[in-house]
Amino acid sequence: MDDRSALRPAPIPDGLLAIGAAAAAFRFALPVADLPAAALRRVTYGDLDVLIAHTSAGIVAVDDRCPHMSAPLSIGELDGCVVTCPLHEGRFDLASGDPVQMPTTGCLAPDGTAVAPWTPGGREPKPDVPGRKAEARRLTRVRRFRYYPVRIVAGIVEVAVPEA
Ligand code: FES
Repeated sequence: MDDRSALRPAPIPDGLLAIGAAAAAFRFALPVADLPAAALRRVTYGDLDVLIAHTSAGIVAVDDRCPHMSAPLSIGELDGCVVTCPLHEGRFDLASGDPVQMPTTGCLAPDGTAVAPWTPGGREPKPDVPGRKAEARRLTRVRRFRYYPVRIVAGIVEVAVPEA
């Protein structure tokens, strides 16, 4: 068994446990057979969409909302521990919770540092028309992930998410 197929929960980075998760009961997520290596799956509890990812560091559960503008990462791509968002090409490390590549729109980094817009493929950036939309893009802060505890019991992935 190589690292990519490790069927175990990945460690939760310090300080990034989701609010309410420490006291939450474990709930059914999906059978491990439905989560092959490098898979991304959405599991919904009430109005909470959770991303279950089978990363090279193990199984991770976080909100299925990009830390930038909340796009569903479950329809992105996973390479090792890094998930690519389908909306603005942001790339985020599910093992650490940190951004790897900032979104194309420009934004604030988690520490508040300003990040300029960019264009993939080495093309010239499109001029950003000044106004409230540009301001909103500039002031959107990329968060770090918040994690839900994961366990595997009798071939089932379970996740500790608070009741709605
Ligand atoms: S919403 Fe994911 S990078 Fe913008």
